[in-house]
Amino acid sequence: PDSKLVDPFGRRITYLRLSVTDRCDFRCTYCMSEDMVFAPRAQILTLEELYAVADAFISLGVKRIRVTGGEPLVRKGLTGLLAQLGARAELEDLSITTNGSQLSILAADLKAAGVTRLNVSLDSLRAERFAELTRRDKLAQVLEGIETARRAGFRRIKLNSVIQKGRNDDEVLDLVRFAVEHGLDISFIEEMPLGQVSSHEREITFCSSDEVRERIEAGYTLVRSSHTTGGPSRYWQVAGSETQVGFISPHSNNFCGSCNRVRVTAEGKLVLCLGHDGALDLKSLMRRYPGDSDRLRQALVDALQLKPEKHEFRTDEQVQVVRFMSVTGG
Ligand code: GTP
Ligand code: 5AD
Ligand code: SF4
Repeated sequence: PDSKLVDPFGRRITYLRLSVTDRCDFRCTYCMSEDMVFAPRAQILTLEELYAVADAFISLGVKRIRVTGGEPLVRKGLTGLLAQLGARAELEDLSITTNGSQLSILAADLKAAGVTRLNVSLDSLRAERFAELTRRDKLAQVLEGIETARRAGFRRIKLNSVIQKGRNDDEVLDLVRFAVEHGLDISFIEEMPLGQVSSHEREITFCSSDEVRERIEAGYTLVRSSHTTGGPSRYWQVAGSETQVGFISPHSNNFCGSCNRVRVTAEGKLVLCLGHDGALDLKSLMRRYPGDSDRLRQALVDALQLKPEKHEFRTDEQVQVVRFMSVTGG
């Protein structure tokens, strides 16, 4: 049956991005400030509450869940929650977006829990630069994590690279080569202005998907492909390889018309659009009416009426989204 979650623009929600923590062991410059203040633990959904939220969405027709953070793999007890979700036959896809730092320890457990896909953030293959971008010196650990995940049997592992001019745009070809040599997919993401992280600088470092593609085509032939993951990425295949190169272009190619997703933050806020600050407090509802799944479901159906038509990423201070990316996990 179709999803019961429909917004005023006729879009059906079949995909949930569930953030399980706002904490992270990295401090990527475009995502967090160095002195980021995290939510107190009592404000974070318990594992039981996270499952209750996911269950409500599944019963309303959500077919795919992506677990995000912060860094989801630093959440204690996560593999138990994943196993519960992995056992739900209604789900066609249970995926995780991770910075990869814990994968060498956890990859096998994730696979056993029923996780189907991993996206791993990787903006540089040079240790020193990686340490500048993430403010943590952990490139080797991440690369080892990716390799462990491959050995654990994950297929179609995808790298995520946010490309910034003057920071890592000279590594585009190296990143593609790395993906091709290791049998990985890779998505290139245009940076989005969230959380007031040096918005002036962003205008200087902005690098469009078209520019990234030109750089790749200096070394590889790209063939537009029908590959899809149901999200905003548009894919090209690297000729003569298995690698799919995706482009997520919130600025240069608006994809909101086909939006199929909503987000829940680790604090239990329902975020109807990444590019807007509005959110509905599911946690208060769940804590006021514990176990009342009908009420929770009805709140979700009602909330869908408020889903904005599209994101308008703007950097002028009046309208900038103040929520940091780490709160919604992208
Ligand atoms: P799959 O397509 O399932 O592989 O994942 P994905 O690329 O949608 O998700 P991932 O967590 O890997 O996110 C990659 C980037 O896409 C992040 O920067 C997200 O913020 C961005 N992204 C994902 N969905 C949306 C969306 O609905 N709107 C916007 N503006 N950005 C999105
Ligand atoms: N703009 C675009 N992508 C971002 N990410 C984090 N912050 C931003 C931003 N401001 C990416 C991460 C990760 C994915 C979930 O979102 O690099 O790969
Ligand atoms: Fe952590 Fe990911 Fe944000 Fe980097 S982008 S600080 S790895 S949550």
